[in-house]
Amino acid sequence: MPDLRVRLSSGSYPIVVTSNDSRRLPALLARAATSGRIFVFYDAQFYALHGSTLRPLLKARGREVIEMVLPRGEKSKSRATLERIYAFLLGEQISRDDFILAVGGGVTSDLVGYAAATILRGIAWGVVPTTLLGMVDAAIGGKTGINHRLGKNLIGAFWHPRFVYVDTLWVNTLDRRQLTAGIGEIVKYAGLEGEPMIDTLQRYLSRPSQRILTKLVRQSVACKARIVTLDEREKNVRMFLNLGHTFGHALEHAAGYGRLLHGEAVLLGLWAAVRLSVHLKPSRATRLNAYQDIVETLVPRIPRVRIDLDRVLTAMNYDKKRSSRKMRFVLLDRPGKVFIADNVPGRTIRDTVKRTLAVCDHFGGEDA
Ligand SMILES: NC(=O)c1ccc[n+]([C@@H]2O[C@H](COP(=O)([O-])OP(=O)(O)OC[C@H]3O[C@@H](n4cnc5c(N)ncnc54)[C@H](O)[C@@H]3O)[C@@H](O)[C@H]2O)c1
Ligand SMILES: [Zn+2]
Repeated sequence: MPDLRVRLSSGSYPIVVTSNDSRRLPALLARAATSGRIFVFYDAQFYALHGSTLRPLLKARGREVIEMVLPRGEKSKSRATLERIYAFLLGEQISRDDFILAVGGGVTSDLVGYAAATILRGIAWGVVPTTLLGMVDAAIGGKTGINHRLGKNLIGAFWHPRFVYVDTLWVNTLDRRQLTAGIGEIVKYAGLEGEPMIDTLQRYLSRPSQRILTKLVRQSVACKARIVTLDEREKNVRMFLNLGHTFGHALEHAAGYGRLLHGEAVLLGLWAAVRLSVHLKPSRATRLNAYQDIVETLVPRIPRVRIDLDRVLTAMNYDKKRSSRKMRFVLLDRPGKVFIADNVPGRTIRDTVKRTLAVCDHFGGEDA
């Protein structure tokens, strides 16, 4: 199968999606990093599990490879870890011929990508995403950054890698929640893409296999790469990637730090988006039925959470005195056809959130 590509005004780069086949990685690395040394930054958990498999491949062509293992977890996306990376690279006297490789989930690609964007005014880099969310989302699109104490992802830069290398084999060691979170973003892409992808997703959910998962990753990456190509700097159609996210972000935030993984909140946000789409035009119900079924099949995999309605509304900047003129929702007319709603009455939003909270609590009932 031909490689997927992100095409930018300044050139293009490949996204290779494989399954249990990292053999092409050395050649790709050799092409992207033509001279100089290769600085590899690993997520600690991935390194412990798979470092011994991946390291020889990176060293295969006799190039000088210098490694650093980074602590796992969102806290690592900080000024403090960034500073450690700078100190390490400057201590090694990094030069503009050198290359940086990020191996890990979204935390690693965001952090290391930002270090690559900023050190010596920008060093070429590549990504080997190792979580499902990293593969279908974080590693694609050139957004890099760290968190600030005032909020997530507030410091950052657009800095596209020279390649993305996905081997879906790595997802087999993810814990179940991480896997579901990645699937949450895949369900989002299925909403944007429509039929062929919905069909693949249904097959995967009824009989999960590595082969079908790889196909879903490929379809997701193709969707994001196409949208990023159309809108390099997030000025217009990239907004479609926010399907399920207006509600999802608010639920994630209102649930309290770390209680819902981002992708889990996105799944719940997709439920809300479907519900709102149908509420605004009931004839959409039949068209969105199969999609809603997919979302509902996955909900029981998310831990039950009780979330306070007012906290969600506050997180959405909801003000009951005015309609939500400033709030924009990416919604579905049918799978594969999105539309933007920016004039949804406040009480409709409130009602949608209320119903979604029953879903967060797995449709209410006895305690978890
Ligand atoms: N730049 C973007 O466009 C973009 C898009 C989406 C998300 N993000 C960012 O991505 C981050 C979330 O990414 P994530 O979900 O990958 O989290 P993560 O990087 O924290 O990885 C999740 C966990 O999986 C572990 N892990 C990594 N690979 C593994 C493997 N193969 N087997 C077992 N465990 C493994 C990690 O140690 C970590 O504990 C957030 O910070 C988010 O802001 C960025
Ligand atoms: Zn997301």
